[in-house]
Amino acid sequence: MTDRTTATLRIGSKELELPMFSPAAGPDVIDIRKLYSEAGVFTYDPGYTSTASCDSTITFIDGEEGILLHRGYPIDQLAEKSHYLEVCYLLLYGELPTGPQLEDFQSLVTNHTMLHEQMLYFYRGFRRDAHPMAIMVGVVGAMSAFYHDSTDIRDPWQREVASIRMIAKMPTIAAWAYKYHIGQPFVYPCNSLTYAANFLRMCFAVPADDYVVNPILARAMDRIFTLHADHEQNASTSTVRLASSSGANPFACIAAGIASLWGPAHGGANQACLEMLEQIGSTDRIPEFIDRAKDRDDPFRLMGFGHRVYKNVDPRAKVMKQSADEVLELLGIDDNPKLQVAKELERQALSDKYFSEKRLFPNVDFYSGIILEAMGFPTSMFTPIFALSRTVGWISQWKEQLEDPKHRIGRPRQLYEGETLRDYVNVEDR
Ligand code: CMC
Repeated sequence: MTDRTTATLRIGSKELELPMFSPAAGPDVIDIRKLYSEAGVFTYDPGYTSTASCDSTITFIDGEEGILLHRGYPIDQLAEKSHYLEVCYLLLYGELPTGPQLEDFQSLVTNHTMLHEQMLYFYRGFRRDAHPMAIMVGVVGAMSAFYHDSTDIRDPWQREVASIRMIAKMPTIAAWAYKYHIGQPFVYPCNSLTYAANFLRMCFAVPADDYVVNPILARAMDRIFTLHADHEQNASTSTVRLASSSGANPFACIAAGIASLWGPAHGGANQACLEMLEQIGSTDRIPEFIDRAKDRDDPFRLMGFGHRVYKNVDPRAKVMKQSADEVLELLGIDDNPKLQVAKELERQALSDKYFSEKRLFPNVDFYSGIILEAMGFPTSMFTPIFALSRTVGWISQWKEQLEDPKHRIGRPRQLYEGETLRDYVNVEDR
């Protein structure tokens, strides 16, 4: 970040010089930190469309060009050549690991995959029909009650242990939420397997049968994890940062991130998208749904379409689409009706003026559900899989914020439009 020039703000007869910064990439930034103390005004930006809430070195998105970089590396290269745990290392520590560093990191994560045995009873307190995301919010929040020795955020060692614990345990937590939800016994982690293969086994193995992980599916799973690993200051990451700014413990912060991710405008869109494809059912009904999405009086939106930052194709969606083709072919599913509907829906939407003028393109959630369903996951597991993948992004951003000497409690201001001072009226006089 370099000081560039200043911006002049005129309010009535008063002029204020505001510093400007040129970031390593992306638009210049006006520093308004002294605006209130020097000019007595706030800025107004609901939805933070023009506000940089922090400085960061982790992830960069160029929404106009459809570019996503983690520590400078493009997501398509990482999805093709790297793997999830290596990307975790990159996000957490800033550089790709050397061979020995990667080995150490993998063994560290692998040795933290088990959950405290008493957490079993915590799971059993949920109703069986609870959504796995509801279970995850609760269980991750409860980790602060089980791992007291990694909740002191002022201690770098404890921060490190908490980070590794969360990355390592999240697949177990998500898989157990699923197992509990469907009434099957929990499957313990198996440390001889890769991160993704272990997750598949914990989801799909049963004690009564041998289970061999299909390496092709494990690779596809790993790629889904990689594509969701981080996405700079989105709603759930900003939630984690805001929760953490008060000094809350890491498990509570990540639980807050999971809660924010759950909504259909964010991580919940993958479930909503597959349900939409199911509802459309066949390609001949697509025009009807496109018309509904365009109708201002109809709340229906094309799920898996549009993005606050991308005004071009989401680069993750490109890889996801290719993966969907590969996985379905490998599984011998050559006539998946949902994939056919998705491709035709994409084609028709992209050639429609409404979508091109508003620059609405498929996002990461458009094709991911098709792959996950083909792998055997029910729709209720789509968002938990997003949450487990995004954990490393949340943790990296959380760590970065705590290590930043400039960080302060997050405390937005408001444009107040309610009643001004008035006297209390006794109930009998109202
Ligand atoms: N279908 C139909 N119209 C849409 C859609 C859509 N999917 N997305 C945006 N629009 C319209 C919207 O109605 C608005 O029109 P107008 O200017 O006439 O009022 C315009 O496009 C701009 O939309 P917006 O809601 O102001 O944009 P936003 O940046 O606030 O919202 C979004 C971004 C992702 C929430 C939104 O595009 C959306 O709801 N998409 C569907 C849900 C979805 O796929 N979410 C996943 C996002 S990517 C993964 C993640 O973040 O977890």
